[in-house]
Amino acid sequence: MRGDEGIFLKACFLLGFASICFFFTGLPPGTKGGEKMTSLPRPELKGSMSTEEALTIRRTVRSFAPTALTLSQLSKLLWAAYGISDSREGKRTAPSAGALYPLDIYVAVGKGGVGGLESGVYHYLPVRHALEIIVSGDRRGEVAQASLWQMWMAEAPIMVIITAEYKRTTGKYRERGIRYVHMEVGHAGENLFLQCVSMGLGAGIVGAFNDDEVAEILGVPPRHEPLLIMPVGHPR
Ligand SMILES: Cc1cc2nc3c(=O)[nH]c(=O)nc-3n(C[C@H](O)[C@H](O)[C@H](O)COP(=O)(O)O)c2cc1C
Repeated sequence: MRGDEGIFLKACFLLGFASICFFFTGLPPGTKGGEKMTSLPRPELKGSMSTEEALTIRRTVRSFAPTALTLSQLSKLLWAAYGISDSREGKRTAPSAGALYPLDIYVAVGKGGVGGLESGVYHYLPVRHALEIIVSGDRRGEVAQASLWQMWMAEAPIMVIITAEYKRTTGKYRERGIRYVHMEVGHAGENLFLQCVSMGLGAGIVGAFNDDEVAEILGVPPRHEPLLIMPVGHPR
């Protein structure tokens, strides 16, 4: 085989392989082929609003403008909710009983909800500060319906869903661990709330939903029980 024929065949092989990967994974732009992973930009740790101001301004928002969030904004929000703040010890922005971290954060991204990210349900991976796609497509309407038809929720470009795997905490603290998990959801939720406010964004907070329906719509593993949903976006 001549040298240029060999190069041509190699190029065809690589192109064919890339097309097959794309066809089977259907990965959104920015994901690493085969890993279904989207790395988030490093969160910017300087803000212009004091904690006191954020606490004063914070209100539950139930009406959102159809304005997309940026990947940098999403990065900051997820980091604030449950990201790693001490990589040496693996500690996070929210406190956790026994540092057992029973929560998982999912994001339902609407169509055009985040620049550069396809609509779908993503799982936040704090250690890698990355997103893993779980389900493709815009699930906001279904989640709103499963939340006693609170359709205002579906206006928000994203919904952040906090789930808990109780046994991570009850394994050590038994029955009392349930109480600890519920406290921790509040910590992560308030972190997210205040971060939204300090970035000029707004958040709603929803506890009224059908647990099983929401879990099924989002495609989360059965052990991850949804406890809180926070629609996030630009207030209208
Ligand atoms: C645990 C919890 C569950 C909530 N569930 C809902 C809900 O399902 N729908 C809703 O519209 N607001 C919900 N809210 C928001 C409250 O109505 C709101 O926080 C309250 O009216 C106080 O207003 P503020 O958050 O603007 O200060 C919930 C709040 C909390 C803390």
